[in-house]
Amino acid sequence: MEATCGEPGLSGFRSPHCGSLGASDDRLEVDLYGWVARRRDHGGLIFIDLRDRWGAVQVVFNPTKAPEAHAAASELRAEYVVRVKGVVGRRPAGSENPRMATGEVEVTASELEVINKSETTPFPIEDQEEPDEKTRLEHRYLDLRRPRMTRMLELRSRVNKLIRDYMDREEFIEVETPILTRSSPSGARDFLVPSRLHPGSFYALPQAPQMLKQLLMVSGVQRYYQIARCFRDENLRADRQPEFTQLDVEMSFCDEEDVFSLIEGLFSELWREVLGVELKTPFERMDIKESLLRFGTDKPDLRYDLEIADVGSVLAGTKAQIFRSALDAGGVVRGMRVPGGRDLARRDLDELVTVAKGAGGKGLAWLPGSSIDKFLSAEELAGIMSATGAGDDDLVLLVADRRRKAETVMGLIRQEVARRRHLIREDEWKFLWINPTYLFDEDDAGKLTYAHHPFTRPFEDDMSFVEDRPYDVRAHAYDIVLNGYELGGGSLRIYDPTMQERVFQLLGMPLETIRDRFGTLLRAFTYGVPPHGGIAPGIDRIVMMLGGTDNIRDVIAFPKTQSMSDLMLGAPSGVDPAQLEELRIRVVPPPNPST
Ligand code: AMO
Repeated sequence: MEATCGEPGLSGFRSPHCGSLGASDDRLEVDLYGWVARRRDHGGLIFIDLRDRWGAVQVVFNPTKAPEAHAAASELRAEYVVRVKGVVGRRPAGSENPRMATGEVEVTASELEVINKSETTPFPIEDQEEPDEKTRLEHRYLDLRRPRMTRMLELRSRVNKLIRDYMDREEFIEVETPILTRSSPSGARDFLVPSRLHPGSFYALPQAPQMLKQLLMVSGVQRYYQIARCFRDENLRADRQPEFTQLDVEMSFCDEEDVFSLIEGLFSELWREVLGVELKTPFERMDIKESLLRFGTDKPDLRYDLEIADVGSVLAGTKAQIFRSALDAGGVVRGMRVPGGRDLARRDLDELVTVAKGAGGKGLAWLPGSSIDKFLSAEELAGIMSATGAGDDDLVLLVADRRRKAETVMGLIRQEVARRRHLIREDEWKFLWINPTYLFDEDDAGKLTYAHHPFTRPFEDDMSFVEDRPYDVRAHAYDIVLNGYELGGGSLRIYDPTMQERVFQLLGMPLETIRDRFGTLLRAFTYGVPPHGGIAPGIDRIVMMLGGTDNIRDVIAFPKTQSMSDLMLGAPSGVDPAQLEELRIRVVPPPNPST
């Protein structure tokens, strides 16, 4: 007999959960609803595992006790939706299943109702076997039925609740900001939405509610937060999606310490509640310069001890050509000790060279062993060993290049060596604040650009040399890093309109652009703006860390692929020509790749 939800007698919402039954429910009469996870026919008895969101429980159909239910059970297939009435009982001694949370008990069925049948699913709804990701994403609604993915959904919901409770206790209020908004600079491309009523004009989806949260400070909100959806059209990586969620925070009359202690308190609570881990606060801090030098990245993984050293001064007078030319061109030479690395095979080293080249480096030298030895004096060799702390069993890897490039290459080599040599202490949580950072960065064309965003407050004193050494100007900006991931970033903001205009000008923004794009903010700042600052930890990445996955798609119910497609819904898609007509949009077909 088939039934639908809402039919009289269907009261599954309040019935006990399959997955939460245990020894204390012995002899309880239950009315269970769920999916058939597995069926085993043991001659006389039929067993099924009945699964709901909370887990699975074994149900037994006995031909003598309930012949009708037993007959119906012989027709069951995986993923049928059923209702089972029965009695919970302890399993006979010796037949408990310690691998099941409900493994001490089973339900002896008296009635079985098949509510709905299921076709054979494209992959088994279980955790043992990971189906390929394309199939998972095409049938995401089934993938989410797998226990592991259900746990991820629950975890994310729990994290959101813990965040809201914590922020509420800290007297923050959640304010929703628009999704149809105006372009605001965050370094990526905007997703645009055409306006029907204003043909030729577009809304931008928010890359982050940056300007709006600053305007809320002018409104006197003082403590704002929002679990905010953000959209960025940028190249995707394992920890990036075009649509993601931030815990967006802004507060007035604060300094860095206020932001740090708020966020440290929040992370401590999340780690305690979710994982039972007590974090040590305050978190470690490091300025960006030190991070780039010692670890070759602005988001170092401190779960292993490999460190990079500058060996430029040791090689100041060197005749070795690769080092000489890098140093003469104003570049650097950086070295890293690989503990016990003399046992590295030539093949391993060649693979490291490939990694270096893949990152845009010229290559990699090593000591001892590569042909570079003979061009170095005994003094230089000893100097390199001592600067990198290398001992007799160790190998030293060397990179010579422009500073930023050498850092990037060495940073990747450091990661690769740690991974290959199993140096990562997997059970550690290494939180780190990168602070201060620099105000400006160099874009791909070698032009001055902002490192964080143009509202970041510079160190006042450093502005005295901004014309001569702009890249040395420090900023009241910070990133929170965990185990090699940037979990969040933020800054104290400029609240002096003159300083804000100066920074815009240094960035080479014409007055016209400034007025057009930031006029609202600058005008608002003339009506009494409090000093303010904030941060935006990425919730997807936090859930990744807590859920023990390095794939961001695992923590998003309906994610996009690497090429920004939704394989389940088939988005993006073409639209009805009438819609385009109404929007006054004509599509120019992409150039034919074969011409
Ligand atoms: P920022 O651009 O550094 O700062 O972003 C903050 C955090 O958001 C997360 N994040 C992402 N997560 C997944 N996919 C993406 N494509 C993606 N891009 C960013 C990261 C990152 O650390 N408005 C400022 C914050 C501020 O100044 O208060 C901002 O958006 O975890």
